[in-house]
Amino acid sequence: MKKNIILCGFMGCGKSTVGKQLSEKMGMKFIDTDSYIEQKEGMTISEIFAEKGEDYFRSLELEVCKELSNLHAAVISTGGGTLLKDENVKAIKKNGVVFLLNVSSNTVLTRLKSDDTRPLLQREDKEKAVKMMLSQRTPLYNRAADYVIDAEESPRKVCSRIMSVYNSIK
Ligand code: S3P
Repeated sequence: MKKNIILCGFMGCGKSTVGKQLSEKMGMKFIDTDSYIEQKEGMTISEIFAEKGEDYFRSLELEVCKELSNLHAAVISTGGGTLLKDENVKAIKKNGVVFLLNVSSNTVLTRLKSDDTRPLLQREDKEKAVKMMLSQRTPLYNRAADYVIDAEESPRKVCSRIMSVYNSIK
């Protein structure tokens, strides 16, 4: 049975864009954990954070990782905080291979300059917040990842890198 492709990495690394393209190219189902949570709750991520709090959101992420581990041959893009917890990693890896999309803080800042959908980045000093979070999280992302992919380039290139690794896995 084919494993799921799990995309992880910091906000703005391209998980959703790459995931969608990849699923189309590979003829696989695509699930974005943030959209999945939004649909389940009938609220946006920002509303969930504001009205129910981050801890509640994090508990939903674990539920979703457990649920999605029952899928086969799907492309799953996770939220930037999802695979920071061992429990979530363990659940999603039950039937998944994890690809980390690696990007620099400058790339994140350029891509998310005017984004207002990420509650954790609604700070006065966005640059400082991104740099701090990225350096704290990078070791954890690396620990979760089976493969690390350079994601500075176009989504098309990132897709083809992931496809060649995935297709070589027996
Ligand atoms: C978060 C990343 C977001 C979303 C939430 C929290 C994080 O997802 O899950 O705002 O902790 O990094 P994206 O990585 O898709 O932006």
